[in-house]
Amino acid sequence: MAANSFFFWAALAFAVVVDSSSSPLFCSAYDLDPLQDFCVAVPDQVSAVFVNGKLCKNPKLVTVDDFLGFGFHLPGKFAAPTGFSVTVGDVNSIPGLNTQGLTLIRVDIEPNGVVPPHTHPRATEVIVLLEGTIYAGFVTSNPPDGSKNRLFAKVLKAGDMFVFPIGMVHFQRNVGKTKAMGIVAFNSQNPGIISVANSVFGTEPHISPELLTKSFQLDNKTIDYLFSKF
Ligand code: GLV
Ligand code: MN
Repeated sequence: MAANSFFFWAALAFAVVVDSSSSPLFCSAYDLDPLQDFCVAVPDQVSAVFVNGKLCKNPKLVTVDDFLGFGFHLPGKFAAPTGFSVTVGDVNSIPGLNTQGLTLIRVDIEPNGVVPPHTHPRATEVIVLLEGTIYAGFVTSNPPDGSKNRLFAKVLKAGDMFVFPIGMVHFQRNVGKTKAMGIVAFNSQNPGIISVANSVFGTEPHISPELLTKSFQLDNKTIDYLFSKF
């Protein structure tokens, strides 16, 4: 262990010295690799020890069904007025996904429907569009030099894939005449979702209207209207 740690720090120091004149050599990552073959989730118990939020099932009791998911051949329930639905394959529906750093969803979007601007605080997202045509994109964080946030957006057709980098606000809209459907992968078992509109105008209790009128340069009537919508 001590020897390993010595070699690690020595290699790190060497790499920094060698690389100090060029571009950064290192990147960081999280959602660490599992420490065991699997950690099949079981329902939470009071005062239990948690691993990424879920308990591991005794490996001797694990069966093949713990790794099986269902229902991706069907769309989920469509949300009005946005016109999209999701079918989720995560640790709650496939216990064997526990600690594997992965969530999948099927997303269906009606013609003209949208997946409104949102972000996933803990995951990069990749969509594989299997049916239809969508306009999809994301916006960068605020550039440090004060220039405008950049929009990266593209019309995707069946067979195309698109990456939404972690934490970036992103969206999709069905711009075709038929239903669009894709499979979305997240590199976290708990990607989280923050809807831009809901997190500003749909909170409980409301953010102060004085703050919102000034922040968004809107009048009180418009803020009240937005409160009523979200
Ligand atoms: C699409 O971006 C989604 O998260 O469903
Ligand atoms: Mn998303």
